[in-house]
Amino acid sequence: MSRIYLDNAATSFPKPDSVHAAVDRFNRQVGVSLGRGAYRDAMDAQAVVTRCRKRAADLLGAESPDRIIFTFNGTDSLNLAIHGLLQPGDHVVTTVMEHNSVLRPLRDLRDRQQVEVSYAPADAEGRVAVDDVRAAMRDNTKLVAVTHASNVTGTIQPIEDIGEIAREAGAVFLVDAAQTAGHLPIDVSQLPADLVACAGHKGLLGPLGVGLLYIRPGIEARLRSIRQGGTGSKSEDDRQPESLPDKYESGNHNGPALFGLDAALQYLDERGIAAIQQHEEQLTGQLMDMLGKTRGIHVYGPAANQRVGVVSVAINGFEPQILAGILDENFEVQTRAGLHCAPGAHRAIGTFDQGGTVRLSVGPFTSTTDL
Ligand SMILES: Cc1ncc(COP(=O)(O)O)c(C=O)c1O
Repeated sequence: MSRIYLDNAATSFPKPDSVHAAVDRFNRQVGVSLGRGAYRDAMDAQAVVTRCRKRAADLLGAESPDRIIFTFNGTDSLNLAIHGLLQPGDHVVTTVMEHNSVLRPLRDLRDRQQVEVSYAPADAEGRVAVDDVRAAMRDNTKLVAVTHASNVTGTIQPIEDIGEIAREAGAVFLVDAAQTAGHLPIDVSQLPADLVACAGHKGLLGPLGVGLLYIRPGIEARLRSIRQGGTGSKSEDDRQPESLPDKYESGNHNGPALFGLDAALQYLDERGIAAIQQHEEQLTGQLMDMLGKTRGIHVYGPAANQRVGVVSVAINGFEPQILAGILDENFEVQTRAGLHCAPGAHRAIGTFDQGGTVRLSVGPFTSTTDL
């Protein structure tokens, strides 16, 4: 029996073969420092990165490729957005459904008495109400930070409406798209989001070690770089360049991962996000039906068409870790148990005190026969 991987919310597996081929090509045949050398191989490699940036911009509906900043993962993108933007005296509105990669940078700033944070609540299905976000806004709200879909319940949040509230108030709207990029269409030409943080290795199907941050035109004037260093440009100046993407991309890139991401984005373009969304919604429905019919299993969160392919379950009397262990040892079903780095989400759905849930998450390569 071969393993059944249902941990795509952590990182997607498998990746398209073209991704492995591109990583291998970089490692074996290219191997250069990107954006630095002027010799032919370096220029050719840089062209792949430029193409990758363009593909990412096209995928998100960004105004131009330089609006896409390459980072090292979703957490890195969120840290750049949060630490780069906030200043002492600012107020932030976020939600209890956030991942620790939003909660912890905010907590760090709170503990240093730099910012105040309000947390919009969520209902038992993990849904945040637009009115609660509106009620939390203050005159000095600088940032509204909301996860597009929960990594615990899969619940898709009403980010269009929340974005309008932020826009009316003149606050920056940060969307954590770690669980949605590559799974659902995201179009920043329609969506009032100013910053969109993505992991490159989850739904975008790239290798581990890469992430993206979309920055709306004008926001860069308010967003400091949080890491300064060599960019391969303006080397005569010891100040960080202001031009994009260099302002936020100091130090050597993760070349293998960017080559892989370029291939992954081509795959997504060819297969189509809408087709992937449909595939995953169907699998999620099938999974929820099957689990829901099984005596003793409690399935959390909303209907399949209101979530991404993330399903949290619990069985009365079983610790999540034990249940996940049984699934792994007896059936080679790989899931993730516990609090999933999102303690507030578990409090909202009532699973915090029992040690969380077992999370099953499907991906573009999960098939109906796996379930
Ligand atoms: C909702 C959410 N935000 C952010 C992250 C962080 O992404 P990364 O693991 O790429 O740093 C994750 C990853 O699990 C996530 O699920």
